[in-house]
Amino acid sequence: MSLRDDVLEHLLNAGGGYCSGGDLASRLNVSRTAIWKAIEQLKAEGANISAVTRRGYKLESMPDLFHEGYFQTLVKDCKTAWKPLYFPAIGSTNDYAKELAAKGAPEGTVILSDLQTAGKGRLGKQFHSPQGGLYMSILLRPTTLPLSDMMAVTACTAAAVHEALAEFDIPTKIKWVNDLFLNGRKLCGILSEGSFNAEMLSMDYLVIGIGINLRPDPHLPEELREIVTDVQTETGQTLGRFVLCAAILRHLERLMAELPERTYLPIYTRHSMTIGRMVRVRGQEGELTAKAVGYAEDAGLIVEKADGTRETIRTGTAVFVD
Ligand code: BTN
Repeated sequence: MSLRDDVLEHLLNAGGGYCSGGDLASRLNVSRTAIWKAIEQLKAEGANISAVTRRGYKLESMPDLFHEGYFQTLVKDCKTAWKPLYFPAIGSTNDYAKELAAKGAPEGTVILSDLQTAGKGRLGKQFHSPQGGLYMSILLRPTTLPLSDMMAVTACTAAAVHEALAEFDIPTKIKWVNDLFLNGRKLCGILSEGSFNAEMLSMDYLVIGIGINLRPDPHLPEELREIVTDVQTETGQTLGRFVLCAAILRHLERLMAELPERTYLPIYTRHSMTIGRMVRVRGQEGELTAKAVGYAEDAGLIVEKADGTRETIRTGTAVFVD
């Protein structure tokens, strides 16, 4: 545990009472300045902490503050031993999760951050990741997952995020293959990355990155204003990041365990905003415009061409043209 976590633990245990700076410093064996810095960090994360001379610090409220113990109560019914690692800011949660995976971090490690300075999207694009979003990367080690199921994992994750948001009455639509939309604008993106073990012919590890816009961004770049949205703007809700994260982990655990039975597919299909639309995609003979008519078992997009023949698309993105 970091000093920030220890200080938070003490403030919570004080049950709304005061903790003196000196007392905290001697219990935790650090200087009072170090305690002050930890308090400042907690405040920067949104904790409402009051300070009174000769009495100390008091936790008034902690709207959406990360606390390991609280997080574990939210995922207590899961079989996976989820191990969240929280950072107020990070380059990219996916990059860090991959770094840890290469060093042997266990399945269930989840990197969480409030802000990414180098957030990544699909196809080498940037993912704008300002303060006020949920940015998370989940490390899995699915030893029996065939490589051909990588696209299904992304689609399965989209279904899990859809189900988690639905718990809060947020009715998203899924755009093939990795985006969730709310009221016609992008709310969430998913990026799955992995490392293949050629000797074992299986995945060594899989990192599933999820970025969800929860609060409005006052500095949203001009070019994104008509394209993206956030939960608060659309629903008025100030949804807690960690509560949402835990809901996603619960749904993902179940749908991934059921991947061989494809239970994600009816959810993915029912809430699709792609099926029935004319799309421009890259097919076997280059780019083609066709009607999206369904999904294959592995979440490939089935399109019907003007001559009535069908093709399944497994790479790239679909651009709506109708
Ligand atoms: C996309 O829209 O193309 C995918 C976006 C994926 C963004 C998430 S945010 C958490 C994780 N870390 C990253 O750098 N990217 C993913």
